[in-house]
Amino acid sequence: MSERQLRDAEPRDLDQLLEIERAQFPEPWTRSMLLDEIGNHDSRRYRVLELAGEILGYAGVMFVLGDELHLNSIATKPGFEGSGVARALMDDLIFDAENRGVARATLEVAASNERAQRLYYHYGFSPVGVRRRYYSLTGEDALIMWAHWDEPKA
Ligand SMILES: CC(C)(COP(=O)(O)OP(=O)(O)OC[C@H]1O[C@@H](n2cnc3c(N)ncnc32)[C@H](O)[C@@H]1OP(=O)(O)O)[C@@H](O)C(=O)NCCC(=O)NCCS
Repeated sequence: MSERQLRDAEPRDLDQLLEIERAQFPEPWTRSMLLDEIGNHDSRRYRVLELAGEILGYAGVMFVLGDELHLNSIATKPGFEGSGVARALMDDLIFDAENRGVARATLEVAASNERAQRLYYHYGFSPVGVRRRYYSLTGEDALIMWAHWDEPKA
């Protein structure tokens, strides 16, 4: 029986990644944006969770400074939510980041996206501010969240 596997995103994944993007985001990335992101191995790390050739979700980070990262994107394929896909991707990205000495992380998330915010709270992120009308298509505000993994956990 096949098992879920985490691996780096590759250009051959683009069709599946685009399908997830278009299903999950009001302002999906284009094919060329995605290709640029997953092809940039200097400052980006994109991972997919795959089951028997089917991509169930993907996530990517950007390393900003030596010890800081930005969560660029995370999405689970429709129909596979709530089964730990995003958690597996976050665990993988954060484990790797901590091994690289990353001490803090930031992200933007739509103010109404409680599902994603709950996921981020679980990984130590807290809201620190708002970017007004950050999402141009919907006009929605974004919460700016930060996590400081070098501080002792409560
Ligand atoms: C936000 C998003 C990435 C979450 O992905 P997900 O794969 O559904 O998340 P997970 O399954 O890993 O975890 C979510 C919940 O499932 C639960 N869960 C984890 N493993 C599980 C399992 N094996 N079986 C059942 N439930 C499980 C978790 O406890 C968690 O519960 P909680 O939300 O009450 O804390 C997904 O909803 C999505 O793609 N949304 C659209 C894109 C988006 O908004 N991205 C974020 C942009 S900032």
